[in-house]
Amino acid sequence: MMKMMMMMMKQRESSSLMSLRALAFFFILLYVCVASPAGASESETLLKLKDSLQNTDGLTTWKPSTSPCTAQKPNWMGIRCDGRGRVWALQLENLGLKGEINVGLLQDLPDLRTIGFMNNSFEGPLPDLRKIIGLKTVYLTGNKFSGTIPSDWFTGMSSLKKLHMANNQFTGEIPKSLAGLDKLVELSIEGNKFEGKIPDFRQPRLTIFNVSNNKLEGEIPKSLRKLDASSFAGNEELCGGPLKACSTPSKKPATWIIVLIVIAVIVAIIAIVALLVFLLGRRKKLSESSVEAPPPSTATVQNRSVQKEPEHQASAPGSPENSIKGGNGKKGEQSLKLSFVRDDRERFDMQDLLRASAEVLGSGCFGSSYKAALLTGPAMVVKRYKQMNNVGREEFIEHMRRIGRLGHPNLLPLVAYYYKKEEKLLISDHVLNGSLAAHLHGNQTLDHPSLDWPTRLKIVKGVAHGLRYLYSELPSLVAPHGHLKSSNVLLNESYEPLITDYGLIPVVNQEHAHTLMVAYKSPEYMQSKRVTKKTDVWSFGVLILEILTGKLPTNFLQQGKGSEEDLASWVNSVPREEWFSQVFDTGMGAGKSSEGEMLKLLKIGLECCEGEVEKRLDLKEVVERIEELKERDNPGDSDFFSTCASEGDMTKIVG
Ligand SMILES: *[C@@H]1O[C@H](CO)[C@@H](O)[C@H](O)[C@H]1NC(C)=O
Ligand SMILES: *[C@@H]1O[C@H](CO)[C@@H](O)[C@H](O)[C@H]1NC(C)=O
Repeated sequence: MMKMMMMMMKQRESSSLMSLRALAFFFILLYVCVASPAGASESETLLKLKDSLQNTDGLTTWKPSTSPCTAQKPNWMGIRCDGRGRVWALQLENLGLKGEINVGLLQDLPDLRTIGFMNNSFEGPLPDLRKIIGLKTVYLTGNKFSGTIPSDWFTGMSSLKKLHMANNQFTGEIPKSLAGLDKLVELSIEGNKFEGKIPDFRQPRLTIFNVSNNKLEGEIPKSLRKLDASSFAGNEELCGGPLKACSTPSKKPATWIIVLIVIAVIVAIIAIVALLVFLLGRRKKLSESSVEAPPPSTATVQNRSVQKEPEHQASAPGSPENSIKGGNGKKGEQSLKLSFVRDDRERFDMQDLLRASAEVLGSGCFGSSYKAALLTGPAMVVKRYKQMNNVGREEFIEHMRRIGRLGHPNLLPLVAYYYKKEEKLLISDHVLNGSLAAHLHGNQTLDHPSLDWPTRLKIVKGVAHGLRYLYSELPSLVAPHGHLKSSNVLLNESYEPLITDYGLIPVVNQEHAHTLMVAYKSPEYMQSKRVTKKTDVWSFGVLILEILTGKLPTNFLQQGKGSEEDLASWVNSVPREEWFSQVFDTGMGAGKSSEGEMLKLLKIGLECCEGEVEKRLDLKEVVERIEELKERDNPGDSDFFSTCASEGDMTKIVG
């Protein structure tokens, strides 16, 4: 060979034409040598590979006296042979192999498509497997490969279908070029130290995808959001999709609280203005004593409730032209059709709601609620949400259907919804006795009896049952309720609680969810930006304490520094012997005979508020322990205040 080259070089000097021919001849010769079907050269190549590695004790069958393949049958350990009697796969696993993988040698195996070196002790950078043309499968999981891989490294490995290199020590970003491999179906790179964002993988047939236990961050790309959370677990800063929702850029609790306060003030101002407008309008309405035409105040309210629909107020009930049309006057044809999510309800239209007299019930975090009494039929509550416009129409509708399928005596059912890109209206029944919040905090000035202990216990039990149902019916939601607080617990005519505003986390815009929703005020979210299956338990704990103390939990949040001082730590700071004079709401009017049971409930509430998620009770335990509670310690005692607060005309406030 050397001689020939020397010869060729000489020839090259003499004549360029000659040299070209000779070069061609040289390459043909080279090709014949390499591609010769004889197993001998593959055998030689593999033996050289064996020599180049360390710890090859496991490769005793690799001997010059035999060839790697006899027809399709392998003679050597860890070899797979194809129909041409050539090596197409190397599966050298769990052998403790070390050293440098000589890719140049592997290149000499023309049919090689699969390389498996799992669970060995290889180190150093990723070997340059790009030189192996047509490589389809690479298994390098369980070694000590390290270093960064350049972004474009995989460009050109267009045959690659499976890449497993989990549990190594790779660093840097996941190479973007992986996302460009059309045939990729398996990517397993968990257990490395990859950092940065996940590239936008769009391969439709990606069946195995695992990037868990790295140091990745940022939002999971849209195309991967349907995958299981375990594909992404163990990356602290990763969010979106099956993991916790991504947070807003402002992460400092201080800024966060300021924003919250500002929003609260704005909401309060809007509420006051709306209330004034409503009261003024009501006076006018009385003086005009008009039944058919809605009062001007209602018009204001309704204009607010359904944006840009000025015509409907002008329309008399019978004038279809104006009343059916909605949207913004110019396009005009958009239907005001409500979508009903239940079959057991009599249908009505947006028009019917608009014609009904409306009444502002309150302003919650997300927007206002209105009570609309249908001319023929029951009163409905319309809640308006502007912060739900990041989800697509299909997704929103699907989620509403899912919520509409729920049915439990302690859940306020969703009856219908109205979809518009920029705002949504959710319609449910009006509940006679308003919200628990109004009873706990709003009635002092009115001449109403405070809720007594048996009623409060009944409410706690009802909420527990409702929550248990939500957990079982919405198992895919990390926080099935997500926004549990006293203003979202409504009381019916017999003071049975009905939970509302549940299951909305998936459709609320993330930035709003993070500033407004109760789940995101939990200790775990404050500390590690995580919502867990026990987050609703924490909210329930706060609610229990609120019910027993009659104190507003948000007062504590705002007075204290962030999550440090909360209702639970206040309760704990009061000496135990003073609990009955200081902590329990005296308005409950419970006698000595209930103190034992009340203490038990307070203890459950405190345990639910446990800041460390691992130590906190899970919902099942909470419900079981609440079930056991009774109204009285000893059924024999009659020292028990049994006035029920079911009389009187309560103000209706829906938060
Ligand atoms: C590699 O080692 C791990 C842990 O020791 C084991 O679970 C796995 O099955 C091994 N993989 C192969 C291909 O033998
Ligand atoms: C991803 O890898 C982790 C760690 O090995 C494992 O626990 C998890 O089940 C894997 N997830 C998927 C979807 O394969």
